Amino acid sequence: MHRIIKEKLPRHIAIIMDGNGRWAKKNLLNRIMGHKKGAESVRLVVKTCRELGIQYLTLYAFSIENWQRPENEVRALSSLLEEYLRLELQEMKKTNIKLITIGDTGKLPETVKDVLLDVMEKTSENRGMVLNLALSYGGRDEIVDAAKRILRDSKSTDIDENAITKDFFSGYLHTANIPDPDLLIRTSGEYRLSNFLLWQLAYTELYFTDVLWPEFSRDDLIEAIMDYQRRERRFGLISDQLSKE
Ligand code: IPE
Ligand code: IPE
Ligand code: MG
Repeated sequence: MHRIIKEKLPRHIAIIMDGNGRWAKKNLLNRIMGHKKGAESVRLVVKTCRELGIQYLTLYAFSIENWQRPENEVRALSSLLEEYLRLELQEMKKTNIKLITIGDTGKLPETVKDVLLDVMEKTSENRGMVLNLALSYGGRDEIVDAAKRILRDSKSTDIDENAITKDFFSGYLHTANIPDPDLLIRTSGEYRLSNFLLWQLAYTELYFTDVLWPEFSRDDLIEAIMDYQRRERRFGLISDQLSKE
């Protein structure tokens, strides 16, 4: 049994799933096999988060920079994604999970886009948990895109300079309707954000583990959540100012 405090669950967990390639190398396999094994961790983590009652789970599945990887790897990643979506639709329906995406998904191959749209449509009424996949996602790209759209809108409707608040700006990001992450997990011993949710992570608690993504277990997830629950989120205040439960 775990010792997670139900009342203090992170509402939104975001994960940079890293280390598939190194896991493959360690096991004398090719990188693609690492991604295949990584997909099993995705299933496990989605299931566990749902069971624990996490409301939002964002997974960094493919960055805008990842397009520059060797063509065969990019192709394998997109077919794995397609396979994952096809296989998981029933499970998402059964467990009441709603699928959404962030990122420049227009760049994805047509077949992947078709399955994505299908799964999103068929799960759109689900309220158990939101599974948000970051696909072809870049944080800086998202911010530039928001600025462009504000400029475009300002041409058709009058936008006063003072109307551009943080909330207003957030409304133009791909994450417009979801709260900022409370906890960010990055696996594989890398300590960087790699262009992930740059705006949204402003006050997120960061958790790094050496575990490679294909080996990330239910216990590793629980440990990350327990670590989060031991922290004090001060948001710039001093300890005494925070209301104690
Ligand atoms: C994460 O694993 C998966 C993606 C970025 C798509 P990597 O493929 O980055 O694995 P490493 O970093 O090479 O070990
Ligand atoms: C970040 O991992 C992107 C995903 C997990 C999808 P990378 O492996 O691409 O990041 P870098 O290149 O090590 O910064
Ligand atoms: Mg990596």
